[in-house]
Amino acid sequence: MAHTALVETAPTVASRLLGWDHLEWWVGNARAVTAWLTSGFGFEVVAYAGPETGVADRVSYVLAQGDVRFVVTAGLAADSEVSRHVLRHGDGIRHLAWRVEDASAVATGAAAKGATVVAEPASVNGDAGSVTTAAIATYGETRHLFVERSGWHGVWGPGFSAERLPPRPAGAPVGVASIDHVVGNVEQGRLDEWVAWYVEVLGFSEMRHFDAEQISTQYSALRSTVVHNGAGVVMPINEPAPGLKRSQIQEYLDSYQGPGVQHIALATPNIVTAVGAMRSRGVRFLQMPATYYEDAKMRVTGFELPWADLESLDIEVDVDAGGYLLQIFTETVTDRPTLFVEVIQREGASGFGEGNFKALFEAIEREQARRGNL
Ligand code: FE2
Repeated sequence: MAHTALVETAPTVASRLLGWDHLEWWVGNARAVTAWLTSGFGFEVVAYAGPETGVADRVSYVLAQGDVRFVVTAGLAADSEVSRHVLRHGDGIRHLAWRVEDASAVATGAAAKGATVVAEPASVNGDAGSVTTAAIATYGETRHLFVERSGWHGVWGPGFSAERLPPRPAGAPVGVASIDHVVGNVEQGRLDEWVAWYVEVLGFSEMRHFDAEQISTQYSALRSTVVHNGAGVVMPINEPAPGLKRSQIQEYLDSYQGPGVQHIALATPNIVTAVGAMRSRGVRFLQMPATYYEDAKMRVTGFELPWADLESLDIEVDVDAGGYLLQIFTETVTDRPTLFVEVIQREGASGFGEGNFKALFEAIEREQARRGNL
């Protein structure tokens, strides 16, 4: 009986997350994607693992900027799980990794609530201690990784080295500070199920919901629900909704061959500087029509905003009860029209740019039409 009570009062997974640890990209050419993320987005390579460091089957580069960590991994053989993932999905995000104090306890707690553990808790030892990880399955072939690194005092983790890293490319400083949110796309009709999974299994809360009427253009629609752990881990989930033409979410699902991560939102304290630097470094962003700014100036009042900079950089603006936010979206950064990056500066607003959804989705549809997928 005591055991039952203990399970019922056990802390939720959500309450045990210390925040994002990293996002792991599984790609076809880690060297090239790393070069692009450093030259274009201002990341710095801080560690490397591969044959030179004793890792036989893959290469991984750890990229850092502010509190954001990306691990960019490619397989070295056709039968590698990384290579097979890339063959099916193209380049994409495999691991949404969270920092925890006790990976084993969190995985056990998740399993007790019904999560599927796909990698049992395991410690890997190295010259600077040990790192313990465990993984559970989420939408598609995406995984949540629990990372416990309190027992590790070296470079990134066992098998990684900070020696002979690629040189840092020249370019203006960007100033990305943290991960604001990470968005997943799931199949039509599955959104509510996945929201229930995050709430009931992991203990997340529903932050807000947008229905097809709120997120629709003349042609296509989507539904979206935001779940969060209440302490900085924010994850919107989208599903396509029926419209006159193919939803952008359906284009993603067809291209990625299933559910997966749609975009990563990076927070910065100064989006004009960040986007100016990214543009000069070669990053391409979605274009807004000139009429967008005429509408925005009427919609967003009461703040001193650098309208000329926003318009010349194609940065969008939105307002809610708490304040305003500035945001912009890159074109897809993968060869398939799947993954893209958002840059966001929050000044009190806690929304996701609801006021921009229509203009934004029309911009995405213009790209979709150029691919012949609308
Ligand atoms: Fe977003």
